[in-house]
Amino acid sequence: MSHTVAAHTISELAELVSQIIHTRQTVLPRRLGDPGPSGEQLAAIVGAAAAAPDHQQLLPWRFVQVPASARAALGQAFALALQQRDAAATPEQLAQAREKAARAPLLLLAVVRLHDDKADAEAIYSADVPPHERIVSAGCAIQNVLLMAHAMGFGAALTSGKALQSEPLRTLFGLSANEQALAFISMGTVVRTKPPRVRPETAQFLTVLGY
Ligand SMILES: Cc1cc2nc3c(=O)[nH]c(=O)nc-3n(C[C@H](O)[C@H](O)[C@H](O)COP(=O)(O)O)c2cc1C
Repeated sequence: MSHTVAAHTISELAELVSQIIHTRQTVLPRRLGDPGPSGEQLAAIVGAAAAAPDHQQLLPWRFVQVPASARAALGQAFALALQQRDAAATPEQLAQAREKAARAPLLLLAVVRLHDDKADAEAIYSADVPPHERIVSAGCAIQNVLLMAHAMGFGAALTSGKALQSEPLRTLFGLSANEQALAFISMGTVVRTKPPRVRPETAQFLTVLGY
């Protein structure tokens, strides 16, 4: 393998990658404003997902963009989901749930396909890849997207919440029985920063077998 990539030495590349990885931080939707990524930037950001490790190349994940024209429908799904789990939700709480769909210029839903139908001849091998491996692949794809967005100067965040597994949201996004929504990815220009969180030390998550 060549020791240079696009005219950078390995050490220059490692330094760049390290900077991108370690300076990324969650920027929650309320801290994101216009502009969001252009179409071309979005293609590069979401395209980074394609480089994720994918056992048996199943492509077990997908992203659904929620454009401005669909934000009201998403807000309605959030409100319905709240109503279903709390019949006593107040109009203010429902309005707040609706408002969440309007935040951040760019909104994506990350979805994982946990199983394949064995009856599908094309899926005969894919049935061997268990759900946890598919979720790992999805996590790698999501991190590629977050890092690419950060490298291009955008803030981004993952958000989940109870509505994610609700029937109104599943229906809105047309999720099939073998799919699960993993998280929303919000993206935009950082309008308010916050101090980075303290990261764990390597010793907290690395051990050596036998010691
Ligand atoms: C699957 C997933 C779902 C998340 N959902 C939320 C969420 O609903 N609300 C939130 O504030 N942060 C959410 N986060 C973001 C984490 O809170 C955040 O990554 C963590 O605080 C570390 O911050 P950092 O990304 O700046 O290092 C989620 C992260 C993951 C991996």
